[in-house]
Amino acid sequence: MGGDGFCGWPTSLHLSRNKMDVTIIDNLSRRNIDNELGTCSLTPVATIEERLAKWKSISGDTIQHFNIDIAQEYTRLAELIERIQPDTIVHFAEQRAAPYSMMGSKQKRYTVNNNVNATHNILCAIVEKDLDIHLVHLGTMGVYGYNSEGFSISEGYIDVDVVQEGKRSSTRSILHPMYPGSVYHTTKCLDEVMFYFYNKNDQIRITDLHQGIVWGTNTKETHLDPILINRFDYDGMYGTVLNRFLMQSALGYPLTIYGTGGQTRAFIHIENTIECIRLAIENPPDGDRVRIFNQATETHSVEELARFVSNLTGAKIEYLENPRREPVCNDLNVIADSLQELGLHPICLQGVLCEEEVSIARKYKHQCDVSKILNSPPWRKSPVQEIPSKTRFFPQKRTHKNRCNK
Ligand SMILES: NC(=O)c1ccc[n+]([C@@H]2O[C@H](COP(=O)([O-])OP(=O)(O)OC[C@H]3O[C@@H](n4cnc5c(N)ncnc54)[C@H](O)[C@@H]3O)[C@@H](O)[C@H]2O)c1
Repeated sequence: MGGDGFCGWPTSLHLSRNKMDVTIIDNLSRRNIDNELGTCSLTPVATIEERLAKWKSISGDTIQHFNIDIAQEYTRLAELIERIQPDTIVHFAEQRAAPYSMMGSKQKRYTVNNNVNATHNILCAIVEKDLDIHLVHLGTMGVYGYNSEGFSISEGYIDVDVVQEGKRSSTRSILHPMYPGSVYHTTKCLDEVMFYFYNKNDQIRITDLHQGIVWGTNTKETHLDPILINRFDYDGMYGTVLNRFLMQSALGYPLTIYGTGGQTRAFIHIENTIECIRLAIENPPDGDRVRIFNQATETHSVEELARFVSNLTGAKIEYLENPRREPVCNDLNVIADSLQELGLHPICLQGVLCEEEVSIARKYKHQCDVSKILNSPPWRKSPVQEIPSKTRFFPQKRTHKNRCNK
């Protein structure tokens, strides 16, 4: 589901190359949102028909595509799932940009209706058709929020002591508390609750991958032909921070940091994303409870990222008022051992792959619409006040940075 998108397209090719029989369901809404916003990928993205025909000519393998809106066309979705009877459904099909979800009521309502119904329709169809399907969902690290107050972020669950009348009465493992920072992140929290219920009630086997911000563009498979090239979004709605910095540096503009730049986030390279998804598929859970993995390989503050790109390209750095409502700075200590235990080989930012991104930005800079780089909406209509961080800083013991293969 969502196999035409930034993560879904290279994953579809990777799974097909690994001898899996892949079908894509995608209503091409991401391409339509580009039309609505007057934006487009920096890299020239071929039509889905051209992409699939090229893949067939290169690999000999057929990937079928069905244009179904999985949030609206329940019957078509359920019938197709019954016909194909897949072992696994990988679910990317959600509106995924936090800024877009904060643009106005139309986009807020669309994001909730689309994402919540998409997830619920898949769960409902699996139950209605009485199929044993492993659902792998792309969630986000953003569900945990960025106020970790000095403790490490575990993989989905935390153990809590229940205190009654001043005495500890029991210890329980519960879903990690959720602190969404946008309407988009709120829908990912609602997904978590639905997964909890459908696993408990119907024993659906579910893996929820709490993914960091994905960087990079191409993978081994999309490199095989220019028609297979992946998206590169640089605009203020869909372009993630690293892409925006790379675009600004390619154009000779300063790198613009929102707020202090102390906001720390988790990251993962697109090659690692597809590797994680394959590992989750090849090692399905038993279904006792929803399996949650943190899918990230390193953490960086926005300022660190800007300095990194600046060192690589010589670009200057500028600070702007932050349109978002978020702590001015935070630490982020993420536990993400499970996927590495299954065999993930982390790729880090300091490497040749980042230079490849710089050259993509330079190669296609003539396609860039400069007016779209800083078009993120404010999180609130009234002037945004910076939220003081409650975060205490503490020495990190288990950072990704020092556990990465450089
Ligand atoms: N890109 C990131 O940095 C990142 C980080 C964390 C999590 N994620 C999650 O990974 C998933 C994929 O992200 P992406 O960057 O590939 O997004 P994307 O927007 O590029 O891809 C999503 C795809 O789903 C399709 N889609 C959306 N709603 C649909 C519907 N109702 N019916 C059918 N198809 C529909 C879109 O057309 C698009 O092709 C998302 O769920 C996102 O929340 C992404």
